[in-house]
Amino acid sequence: MYKIAVIPGDGIGPEVTEEGIKVLEALAADSELEFEFEYFNLGADHYLETGELVTDEVKEELAQFDAIYLGAVGDPRVEPGVLEKGILLDLRFTFDQYINLRPIKLLNEDFTPLKDKAGGDIDFTVVRENTEGLYAGFGGVLKKDTPDEVATQEMVNTRKGVERVIRYAFDYVQDRDEVDKVTVCDKRNVLTYAHGLWQRAFDDVAKDYPEVEEDHMLVDAMTMKMVRNPEDFDVVVTCNMFGDIITDLGAEIQGGMGLAVSGNINPDGVSMFEPVHGSAPDIAGEDIANPTAAILAAAMMVEVLGHAEEADRIETAVQQALTDNKTTSDMGGDLSTAEAGDYISSLL
Ligand code: NAI
Ligand code: MG
Repeated sequence: MYKIAVIPGDGIGPEVTEEGIKVLEALAADSELEFEFEYFNLGADHYLETGELVTDEVKEELAQFDAIYLGAVGDPRVEPGVLEKGILLDLRFTFDQYINLRPIKLLNEDFTPLKDKAGGDIDFTVVRENTEGLYAGFGGVLKKDTPDEVATQEMVNTRKGVERVIRYAFDYVQDRDEVDKVTVCDKRNVLTYAHGLWQRAFDDVAKDYPEVEEDHMLVDAMTMKMVRNPEDFDVVVTCNMFGDIITDLGAEIQGGMGLAVSGNINPDGVSMFEPVHGSAPDIAGEDIANPTAAILAAAMMVEVLGHAEEADRIETAVQQALTDNKTTSDMGGDLSTAEAGDYISSLL
């Protein structure tokens, strides 16, 4: 029995997570898996009523769960960044979710903007460092709003932080038959201090995995190759900022935000799974949001909990729905959010 904390959040978040849970319940009905869901009312409404984002008591409660399943946060009534930073980023740091796992997988070739690329050609996973790098928040501003203004933003790379994300990437390959290579993506030729550390950490960790193939790409070359030869990649490990950028490129070549999924993972703690898209206030409440990314996020949760076969069943069902054109309007179909979730559940 897995205890899942559900944070539906704002906008379309509740609509799409409802479909993800529907699919998990369909899976549970036809497998050994069992889930118990508990809802946490966090987001704009709760914040506007109480002034609270995530309290320490809520964090202590969340720590008791096997995983967190999140929709999206962000609402036009609240200043941009308050909910995103105060909920999402806070949870990522509180639970030390130092891995951001982003699969880039083309499920149906009709949805990629790349010419002549089929399913197997676009199928790799980005392992992004999720807690340090340029996003650690080190820096400051001097003489603000004057002609002499100075702004710095420092890139934090700890040997421990870098090594653990690289080790996760190697373990990921070692645990799976279908992949054999880890590519480290950096800018070691210019960021000689920061990415020199990455290089040394990568070379050291690689020694423990003689059977895993190693590769290196500078980030600029990486973007070219992702467009021209995405089939060259299995698992790519990279720093926080480069990971942010290349995973958006990845989301587009795999078919767009409707299919992009993100896992914020602490292998020894509580991990959090979410669709990459936001709360889409422009379409909230209309029952037209595409639930596919949220459903694939639920599949990733099942996989990380240790049930790859069951996760595959969800992915296969999603793939079938795309083939059958049983999708919402953004993917070319004419189903509502709930109907799209029903169809995928029926395939399970
Ligand atoms: P967004 O991803 O919410 O929406 C961008 C565009 O894509 C909109 O036109 C929206 O209608 C469409 N869209 C997004 N998801 C869709 C889905 N499942 N089905 C159909 N169409 C979909 O990004 P935007 O507009 O920049 O941000 C809206 C709010 O969401 C903001 O408050 C932002 O801060 C927040 N946000 C939250 C994230 C999270 O919780 N992880 C991630 C990104 C944004
Ligand atoms: Mg981004």
